[in-house]
Amino acid sequence: MRVLSGIQPTGNLHLGNYLGAIRNWVKMQDEMDADSQCFFFLADMHSITVHEAREQRIRNVRDMAAALVAAGIDPDRSVLFNQARVPAHAELCWLLNGTARIGWLNRMTQFKDKAGKDREGASVGLFVYPVLQAADILAYNATHVPVGEDQKQHLELARDIAAKFNSDFGVDLFTLPDPIIPKESARIMSLRDGSAKMSKSDPSDMSRINLTDDDDAIMAKVKKAKSDQEMLPETAAGLAGRPEASNLVGILATLTARTPDAVCAEFAGKGFGAFKPALGEVLVETLRPIRQRFLELRTDDAALDAILDKGAAKAAAAAEPTLRAAYDAMGLMR
Ligand code: AMP
Ligand code: TRP
Repeated sequence: MRVLSGIQPTGNLHLGNYLGAIRNWVKMQDEMDADSQCFFFLADMHSITVHEAREQRIRNVRDMAAALVAAGIDPDRSVLFNQARVPAHAELCWLLNGTARIGWLNRMTQFKDKAGKDREGASVGLFVYPVLQAADILAYNATHVPVGEDQKQHLELARDIAAKFNSDFGVDLFTLPDPIIPKESARIMSLRDGSAKMSKSDPSDMSRINLTDDDDAIMAKVKKAKSDQEMLPETAAGLAGRPEASNLVGILATLTARTPDAVCAEFAGKGFGAFKPALGEVLVETLRPIRQRFLELRTDDAALDAILDKGAAKAAAAAEPTLRAAYDAMGLMR
């Protein structure tokens, strides 16, 4: 088993990133056996699709590295690095640009969403973003890729590129990766609007719980979260048509490793006045140790850079045989 996943180092991490992505990475890392390996990286080469000042970009990479370590990624057990330190990603991306078809990329919904109405004005990087993502995965012959639901289409594209490259060049080089999409908490919703994803780009900070929020801020956000006047039902089926209530129950269920049914059973007949403090308490206790480690780690840039350097050396060595074989299959002499 080779597990691999990436996250863009842009801005602050929030509860959605933690429950939807990072926590699952930590779980997979902790369940690994001796023949398996985990690769987790900061997709800084992908993040050039959003303009950022130089200093901010440098800060973002170190902060995200600190956040991952704080959340439980162990750089001694997992290979933790940033893409820019491993040129194999950019190199393989270029080779795969010969394999990927414009028609395939035209179907990518994330490009359509992010380019918006001004497609002509979008960067080429945004368009070929999924090819770089395929290179990230295929360079390591990853077998399992834990991602959120929104990345499913990009994983299918990586499989299509792998299969076409293998057949075009008559090789059995690239492994077709499988996405690992968590069933629960695949989508944590905004605390202000149960129909919108919790997101770092929401203008209201009350809509999300940041990994840097202190105990009081977390409790205040939970207490002010949008809910409804009804009581909690006996079972989760009674939450139908109540998106805010479903979201809050779902968060508590995920945090306490229970089903939404079990959470409903505990609070049946009670209102959100009783539910919210209980949820806030669990959130505070879960996030406090992560926040404390994060704030400590981010004061030592040299230590963070050393972690990323070490990870990059391991990653480069792991990617090298595949990269060399890809050049060779195409008749490109390095
Ligand atoms: P982003 O910050 O949107 O680039 O997402 C980084 C990672 O966090 C991806 O794996 C997303 O699928 C995941 N993620 C982002 N927002 C949420 C959310 N509201 N609920 C669950 N997962 C999320
Ligand atoms: N595109 C992914 C996201 O926005 C991040 C990413 C980049 C990724 N490369 C990857 C995820 C490779 C999994 C595998 O969340």
